[in-house]
Parts: sequence; C-alpha cells; structure tokens
Amino acid sequence: MTPTATPRRYLMCRPTHFAVTYRINPWMDPTAPYDNALAVSQWEHLRQTFLDLGHTVELIEPLPGLPDMVFAANGATVVDGKVLAVQFRDAERADEAPAYAAWFQNNGFEVFDSKHTNEGEGDILLAGEVLLAGTGFRTSHAAHAQTQEVFGRPVITLQLVDPAYYHLDTALCVLDERNIAYLPSAFSPGSQAVLRRLFPDAVIATPADAEVLGLNAVSDGRTVVLPVQATALAAALRERGYATVGVDVSELRKAGGGPKCCTLEVRTRD
Ligand code: ARG
Repeated sequence: MTPTATPRRYLMCRPTHFAVTYRINPWMDPTAPYDNALAVSQWEHLRQTFLDLGHTVELIEPLPGLPDMVFAANGATVVDGKVLAVQFRDAERADEAPAYAAWFQNNGFEVFDSKHTNEGEGDILLAGEVLLAGTGFRTSHAAHAQTQEVFGRPVITLQLVDPAYYHLDTALCVLDERNIAYLPSAFSPGSQAVLRRLFPDAVIATPADAEVLGLNAVSDGRTVVLPVQATALAAALRERGYATVGVDVSELRKAGGGPKCCTLEVRTRD
C-alpha cells in the first residue's frame, strides 16, 4: 500500500529567545556555546519545509525568559478539537503552559486543565485510534489516566528507561495510522513487548539514528521530516515506501530537541 499524506495544521514558536541556560535533560550543557541566529535559521527552514509539503503553520508569540518555548510539542495535546493543557515537571518551563493554553483559548478551542505533570505531545502521541503515552521522566502516569478521560480514547502507557530519551517523541515516531518507528532499548521490557504486539511491522531504529534524535520526526502519513543526520532511518523509511526530507536542526539538539519537538499538531474535529 502506498502511504498517503493528509494535510496537517501545526503550531510552532520561533526560537527568538532560544538559549541553553539550564540543564533539565542530558543533552543540555549550559557551559557549551550555542548560536541563536543559527537556531532561528534552522527553524525557519523547518517551517518552510512544512509549508512546501502543503501544511498549515500557525505561530505562537515567543516569550522572553523561556528559552525552551520553541519546543511547541510540549505546549499541549490536541485531539478531536479538544486541548489538554500541560504542566511542566521543571520550574524553568512552567510559564510556557499558560501561554500555550491562552493561544488555544484565543483560537476558540475547548481547553482542559492539566491535573498532573504532563508535557503534551512530547509524551502523548496519537497513533490511529489510540494514544501512546510515555512516562518515567516527565509526564506522570496519573496524567495518562486524565488523558484517557479527556479524549475518550484508549491510552497505552509506555515506560521510558533511558534518560537520553526522556520524552516519548525522542524514542518513537508515529508514521501513519498503522505504523511507528522506535528504539526498543529506550523502553522497559514490558513496554517493548506491548509495542511488538501492537506494531509487529514497526521500523526499528538503530542507536545511531536515535543519537541524532532521528526519531524526533514529523510524518504526514507519506513524507517523514527528520534530522538529516539520521541516514539509516531515512533509508529504512524509504524502503517502506515513505518519502523523507532531511532537515538540520543541530543547534536545537543542544537543548535536546529535534523537528518533532518544534511542532505541535492541531487536530480539529473531522
Ligand atoms: N529542553 C527541552 C526540555 O528538556 C527540550 C524539549 C524537547 N521536546 C520534546 N518534545 N521532546 O524540556
């Protein structure tokens, strides 16, 4: 079957205030140099890639003092036109939550408050009819139960075990309604068994793909936008009939983020 694309609506945040000034994941080194202008131009290229693929990109105003706000995936979970707001684990990112919630309120969405630590689409990914939800580092298990109640869709809890892959979207990418790509070693043995059962034909990423945040990719069902450095993963995806577009977001990787982290999918009711 040839993979087919569906046009998407994305929310993004320009990295105007991007910086690496604190360390809340193992990728971040506040003593290492970073280049804000390069981060902005890499992000502009990512945005243009989505526009060229025919997707809609909306923008939220970046706020000073919130260097990680560029990672829009953590701003909410949006499914069937409903928005579950977020609650960050770390104080450094706390003020992003009301900013994203306000954006959705101002754009006419029904917004549900988050009762537990919940880092949005970083940890909660729609895969066909169900939601895959990561826990272990950021989003709490209790948040998975709330997510199931809010959206009325089954939530499958997956236990993350490798601190380098602290958000689900760093270890697993939803390719289309039926399939995913993932790094098995990022998950507990039980969660690996769950993934094998649900997705027997999944694309298995190599550690080298994951180390360049290759799984932090954005698929529209046909074209997968992924870090250009993830060459083996791109080849494996093309073998399955997907198209791939490599983007270089090396500067944002210094904060532990890739293309998917920069991209929040806004799913309206069909
Ligand atoms: N520095 C950010 C953090 O640690 C990176 C967030 C990446 N976002 C994502 N969806 N994985 O929170």
